[in-house]
Amino acid sequence: MPDLTTTYLGMKLKNPLVASASPLSKKLDNVKKLEDAGISAVVMYSLFEEQIIHESQALDFFLSHGSESYAEALSYFPKMESYNVGPEDYLELIAKIKKSVSIPVIGSLNGVSTGGWVEYAKKIEQAGADALELNIYFVPTDADTQAVDLEQEHVDLVSDVRKQVSIPLAIKLSPYFTSMPNFASRLAKAGANGLVLFNRFMQPDLDIETLEVVPTINLSNSTEMRLPLRWIAMLYGKVKVDFALTSGVHTSNDVLKAMMAGANVAMMASELLANGVKTVPGILSGMTEWMTNFEYESVKQMQGSMSQRAVADPAAFERANYMKVLTSFDNRLNV
Ligand SMILES: Cc1cc2nc3c(=O)[nH]c(=O)nc-3n(C[C@H](O)[C@H](O)[C@H](O)COP(=O)(O)O)c2cc1C
Repeated sequence: MPDLTTTYLGMKLKNPLVASASPLSKKLDNVKKLEDAGISAVVMYSLFEEQIIHESQALDFFLSHGSESYAEALSYFPKMESYNVGPEDYLELIAKIKKSVSIPVIGSLNGVSTGGWVEYAKKIEQAGADALELNIYFVPTDADTQAVDLEQEHVDLVSDVRKQVSIPLAIKLSPYFTSMPNFASRLAKAGANGLVLFNRFMQPDLDIETLEVVPTINLSNSTEMRLPLRWIAMLYGKVKVDFALTSGVHTSNDVLKAMMAGANVAMMASELLANGVKTVPGILSGMTEWMTNFEYESVKQMQGSMSQRAVADPAAFERANYMKVLTSFDNRLNV
């Protein structure tokens, strides 16, 4: 039997299949089901900067205006509670999950700016989380914001969170950075132990009849993993962090590709949301079968074997590949 074990953020995992942050971790029962199905670690859904700030502002208002104004105070803020529980419940849930499962549990903070709210990193650690994932989700819309300043803000946020915790820290990033290798190494220097590539940005749609911007959340498909796959293959060995691939992981072949590119773990959300935990045993047995057929002894042996520094044609990940792909269409059209 091939050895599926891997390491991620200093933790030894029984296989590389990790449940990415999603509503599945909102219920202890679901996390137990993920563990029973064979998932090796679970990332909690995120606690948002806005939620933490909302709660403390609502409390300030309550203390200074008295209880009769409390409902009014709450109505000033977006109804975060409709899609997530408050910070204290979040911490309690982590503690409860930790007591009930034996797989590692990774807390998740989601925000953009430094400030008092990052203390929650410490609270997540105290609640028993084995590691912390910091999801920096920011869409720059201001023409005066310069890339250099934006990157510095990210780096500062990572060092601030790093100061709060001693558990391992992974940073979940968007793919929209000008010089990803440089930025990734700056994050590593600021204290990141792992990079989770990439956030899948929710693209709002336009309703042309009601003239409304419609928030949409579509589940992914396997082709979406090519973006993180390429970047992990290019960063592997250059930046001294662990890599988690997120976006588009649905099949055993997807997990195998992630490993060959250089990922320590492959994370899944859409596949679990669409097909439930029953999909997990098939993915793991598919990996075992493939590795047996192709005579791989372990996942470790596979990791990074198709990274940019390992493949025969490293330029295939770069501009040369772009030209080759474009010209391949000429042949198809016979032009
Ligand atoms: C319904 C839903 C809720 C999600 N909630 C979170 C979240 O709270 N925090 C976070 O970092 N990512 C969240 N994600 C993103 C996933 O963790 C994952 O990175 C992304 O969906 C890409 O992976 P996938 O192709 O396997 O879905 C969510 C995704 C979905 C579909």
